[in-house]
Amino acid sequence: MGDEQFLSQDSAVLTILKTSEEVNQLKDVDTILDKILYESRKFANADAGSIFLVEKDRLIFSYVQNDTLFKKETANAALYQNFGIPINEQSIVGYVAKTRQSLVIDDAYELDPILPFSFNKSFDEKSGFRTTSMLTIPLIAQESRLVGVMQLINAKNDMGKVGPFSSEAKIYIPLFCNNASVAIERGIMNRELILRMMQMAELRDPTETGAHVQRVGAYCAEIYGTWASRRGHSAKEIKRARDNLRLAAMMHDVGKVGISDSILKKPAKLTDEEFDAMKWHTVYGARLFKNETSELDRMSREIALCHHEKWQGRGYPGVVTPDVWSDDAKLGEPINGEDIPLAARICAVADVYDALASPRSYKDPFPDEKCLGILESDAGTHFDPEIVEVFVEIFDVIKAIRDKYVEATKK
Ligand SMILES: [Fe+2]
Ligand SMILES: [Fe+2]
Repeated sequence: MGDEQFLSQDSAVLTILKTSEEVNQLKDVDTILDKILYESRKFANADAGSIFLVEKDRLIFSYVQNDTLFKKETANAALYQNFGIPINEQSIVGYVAKTRQSLVIDDAYELDPILPFSFNKSFDEKSGFRTTSMLTIPLIAQESRLVGVMQLINAKNDMGKVGPFSSEAKIYIPLFCNNASVAIERGIMNRELILRMMQMAELRDPTETGAHVQRVGAYCAEIYGTWASRRGHSAKEIKRARDNLRLAAMMHDVGKVGISDSILKKPAKLTDEEFDAMKWHTVYGARLFKNETSELDRMSREIALCHHEKWQGRGYPGVVTPDVWSDDAKLGEPINGEDIPLAARICAVADVYDALASPRSYKDPFPDEKCLGILESDAGTHFDPEIVEVFVEIFDVIKAIRDKYVEATKK
C-alpha cells in the first residue's frame, strides 16, 4: 500500500486482526516467520525483508524474502544462511534490539555519521541489490521478552518506485509485530518440545540426533513446497501443509523409544528376528498420534508408520491388521506407489539421503555425486521417482540445509 492509497484506519486494524488470527493458527516457527514477514511486506509494499531471532546475546539470521533477488514460492538456499550479529549499537538490527525502539531510515546510504550504527554494504555489493529505505522493528513478546528483530527494506509506491515508508506502515506494522512476537515464541517452543521428545529417541538410537531431525524436517518442507507448486497447488495450501509436514517429519523415528537397546545399539548386523522387532518402531510411532481431527497428528502418523515403505513394495510395516491400535496387531503385505502417503514418500527420500550424507561408525559421509547416484538409481523401486526428481532439482537448497544444521561436537 503506497502513500497515496491510504488504508482507512478501520480497514488497517481489521487487516492486522485478521492476519494475526491466521498467524495464530500456524505451528512451526519457520512458517510463522514466513507469514509475518510476507504480511508485513504486503502492508508496507516493501520489496524485501528479513527476521533475526535472539539466541543468547546475538541476533541469528532466521528468515529472508526479497522479490528482486529471489523468485517467489520456490525453494531458496538463502533461507538457510547461518550467521549472527551481536546485539550492540554498531549495526542497525543490533541497535534496534538494544534500544527496543523501531527505527525508520529513508536512505541507508545517507546516514548521519553522528549515529552510533552504520549500514553494512556488503550484502548490496555482493548481490547488486540497492538498499534504500528501511523499517526495523523489535519483536517483543509477553513480559517484555525480546524475541528478535524484523527489518523491512525498500518501500515502493504504486508506480513501483522505491521511497520512504508510509506513516501507516510506521504505525501499524509495529502493532502487528506485538501479536506476531507471541506467535513466534510459541513456534519456537513447539519446535523445542519436539526436539526434546526426539532426544529421548536419540538416547536409544545415537544416529537420531537433533541435527538429523531438523535437517530431515527442513528437507521435507522444501521438497514438498517444490513438488506442490509444480502441481499448481495454491500458495496458501502449500504453506499450511508445509507447516505440519516439517514438524511431523521431525518425529519420523519417535517410535524407536519402544525398541530395546540390544537391537538399537547393536554394533553388528541385525539378525532376521531382530530386524523384525525393529520394524515395529513404525507402529509404535504411529500409535502416539491418535487425534483424528488434527492434521498434524494425521501427518505424523502417516510418516511414522510409512517412512520405510518402498515405491515398488517390499518395505515395511505394510498393512497392519486389524489396525495399528490393536494389541494383537500384525504386520502384513507391503503397500506401494501412491498408496504410501505423500508425506511418507517425501520423508523416505529425505531420511535416506541424510544417512548417506552423514558419517556412521562404519563409513564416512558419501560425496554428493554418490548420494545422488544412489537416490536416482533407486527412484522407481525404493523411492517415488517424482520426489527424487524434485530433490535433485533443489539440491543447492538441500546442501544449504545440511550446512545449517550440523551435529554439535560430541564431548
Ligand atoms: Fe525409521
Ligand atoms: Fe532418521
